[in-house]
Amino acid sequence: MKPTVAPFPAARLRRTRVSPAIRGLVRENTLTTDDLIWPVFVRDGEGIEEPVSSMPGVLRRSVDKIAEAACEAQALGIPAICLFPYTDASLKTEDCAEAWNPDNLCNRAIRAIKQVPPDIAVMTDVALDPYNINGHDGYVVNGEILNDETIEALVKMTLAQAEAGADIIGPSDMMDGRIGAMRSALEAAGHRNVSILSYSAKYASGYYGPFRDAVGASGALQGDKKTYQMDPGNSDEAMRLIERDLREGADMVMVKPGIAYLDICYRVKSTFGTPTFAYQVSGEYAMIQAAAQNGWIDGEKVMLESLMAFKRAGCDGVLTYFAPETARILNG
Ligand code: PBG
Repeated sequence: MKPTVAPFPAARLRRTRVSPAIRGLVRENTLTTDDLIWPVFVRDGEGIEEPVSSMPGVLRRSVDKIAEAACEAQALGIPAICLFPYTDASLKTEDCAEAWNPDNLCNRAIRAIKQVPPDIAVMTDVALDPYNINGHDGYVVNGEILNDETIEALVKMTLAQAEAGADIIGPSDMMDGRIGAMRSALEAAGHRNVSILSYSAKYASGYYGPFRDAVGASGALQGDKKTYQMDPGNSDEAMRLIERDLREGADMVMVKPGIAYLDICYRVKSTFGTPTFAYQVSGEYAMIQAAAQNGWIDGEKVMLESLMAFKRAGCDGVLTYFAPETARILNG
């Protein structure tokens, strides 16, 4: 659709910007609390809320505090919370067995949230990196990240999370064939209504740095993730990955990181018209917070502007560490 514009002065495009009322009437996109998924970090212990130094304002919470945070999120109108475990180094092994332990941190947190009354969707992360001795998302043998063997582990992990009560499974590992394997395993086990939000187009990015600190994976990671995460130079490949994951049974898809990849979000939404999400990752969050703390930008303005940009690009929602702060503002 091509916009028609009358010649000046019949058309003065500033007319529709003249007051807050008129601007509100013609605004094309809106940000609401329904657009937010809140990623949170879980740690061991009780009554603990510990700041993450590379992500000002973000906490690692013990399971009891995670349940409280979920209640708080629900009260703010945030529809979903996404769990990331900070796993003790002693539980990281080569076979990553802690990943499908029914009583691991993540699964305990899911159960704790499901025990408190609020009805908030719980999303999980499926990848081996929190449990892997070498920090990779898949099994490593002789320096190679193995695909098919990793999938078997990811399926076990998925089933343990679904069993614990997860509503949305979030595979972030970028192995080939994992969505189909997870979908059939979920169906076979009777978890018919568990959604898969696939990290379909996940780039090998420098923006994940603070997250790896938050989950205690920075020290562990040997090498980089370029043999499974995408090359930042590629866009067509993202379309193939999205289409592939949808065909294998993903209900929703994700582009990650966010702001630097809005062209991909736009392309995905206009091509597939499928529920599309972006992850405003730790590095994006840290950059905004750092500049705001230095007084170089108005943090609140930039936060809301960055989230609106995802809506404009066509996203149905955003995973953002700013979720509670944003919801508070949107709720007035
Ligand atoms: C792990 C995972 C990562 C993130 C989400 N899941 C890090 C990585 O792939 O190294 C990054 C999130 C963020 O930076 O906020 N598979």
